[in-house]
Amino acid sequence: MKRLAALAAALVLASCADKAAAPVAYAKCKPCHGVPGAGGTKMAPDLLESSYTLEQFTMQAQSGSQWEGKPAKHQSYRTKSMPPRPEVTQEDTDAIFRYVQTFKKR
Ligand code: HEC
Repeated sequence: MKRLAALAAALVLASCADKAAAPVAYAKCKPCHGVPGAGGTKMAPDLLESSYTLEQFTMQAQSGSQWEGKPAKHQSYRTKSMPPRPEVTQEDTDAIFRYVQTFKKR
């Protein structure tokens, strides 16, 4: 029985480890985008469903909804456009991008 409990605990830990802790910078995105994989919010689309490359993702984070070469924008959100976040660094977007990918189902 003890062994079973230990196994269960290990499984719980392993499934938590799948989803990395949110990077600090994600606090700037979460109010609109919510938890990746949760289907987005009324404010913004689910980032897990985004097909943006890391480069596009970084452009979007730093420049908001307006940048050259942006794919068609999602229209049906309460916040029609995303405000730029120029203070978000490349390091931040790398971390956020990787964090979002950890929610992908394998
Ligand atoms: C004020 C709300 C708001 C905040 C804060 C916000 N976003 Fe957005 N975001 C939006 C809206 C609205 C869209 C859809 C319009 C568009 O595509 O430009 C969007 C779209 C995106 C997309 C494009 C998704 C796709 O595939 O079309 C990415 C990537 C993105 N946001 C990343 C981020 C990141 C990273 C942060 C944090 C640094 C962030 N957003 C913060 C509102 C927000």
